[in-house]
Amino acid sequence: ATERTLSIIKPDAVAKNAIGEIIARFEKAGLKVVAAKMLHLDNDKAGGFYAEHKERPFFNDLVGFMTSGPVVVQVLEGENAIAKNRDLMGATNPKDAEPGTIRADFAETIDANAVHGSDSPESAEREISYFFSNDEICPR
Ligand code: CMP
Repeated sequence: ATERTLSIIKPDAVAKNAIGEIIARFEKAGLKVVAAKMLHLDNDKAGGFYAEHKERPFFNDLVGFMTSGPVVVQVLEGENAIAKNRDLMGATNPKDAEPGTIRADFAETIDANAVHGSDSPESAEREISYFFSNDEICPR
């Protein structure tokens, strides 16, 4: 089925000037960018996004990292977009990421892991509406 998923190019990958290379991987895999913007998240916006991790020991480091520089948030659309994006990203910890995945090629650590992608249809819906209003999404 055609799905939408939220993708974030994280501060480490933006700092590496890898925005274009990462988006090229999405497009080559058949995913379409139907919304995109660059943002510098503050503590409230990053903390709210990762609210489900609030009690985890890595929460403060995660928010600190996600507010350390600009990010690029996008809505990707395509057949099985959620799973396809997760395959393209590779494992959360770049040490475990398969060769050729975005995290294997661009990420350094589990925090500075280059990209985020929604993990289910429910989180995709929440995450897309967290960053985008309906009129910012351009079906094509
Ligand atoms: P992301 O997909 O953005 O979702 C939550 C993020 O928390 C994850 O990527 C990692 O960058 C970060 N993180 C840090 N430590 C851990 C951990 N032990 N388990 C899962 N995620 C972690």
